[in-house]
Amino acid sequence: MRKIIILFFLASTAAIAQPNGRLLASQCFQCHGPNGKSTGEIDSLAGESAAEIYDELVEFKLKPENGIMNLQARIYTDAEMRAIAGYIGSLPQ
Ligand code: HEC
Repeated sequence: MRKIIILFFLASTAAIAQPNGRLLASQCFQCHGPNGKSTGEIDSLAGESAAEIYDELVEFKLKPENGIMNLQARIYTDAEMRAIAGYIGSLPQ
């Protein structure tokens, strides 16, 4: 019985510790286009690597400015930014 409880605890913390990149990235697509393919003036994100997206988000987050992307980036934790970057980096150009 104790084993089952411990396994359940581990499974539920693993689920919490893994932010859903696809779900979180849907916020980005409102401005950067569906699946990161822009149809307007804002840049497409599809085709950029996970490392590029992550680095840019960190830069936006840390910069002492209040532009659209600075405000966007500040609401995410590091784990969330990695999950978002991982998902966007996997999208075809
Ligand atoms: C409210 C609209 C909006 C949302 C939502 C938004 N962005 Fe942006 N993003 C912009 C604008 C506008 C720029 C260009 C302005 C600038 O460079 O400061 C930009 C620039 C960027 C850039 C740099 C340009 C490039 O193509 O490399 C990246 C990377 C980026 N956004 C990623 C994201 C990610 C990831 C998300 C979701 C977490 C996101 N954005 C959500 C509007 C938005």
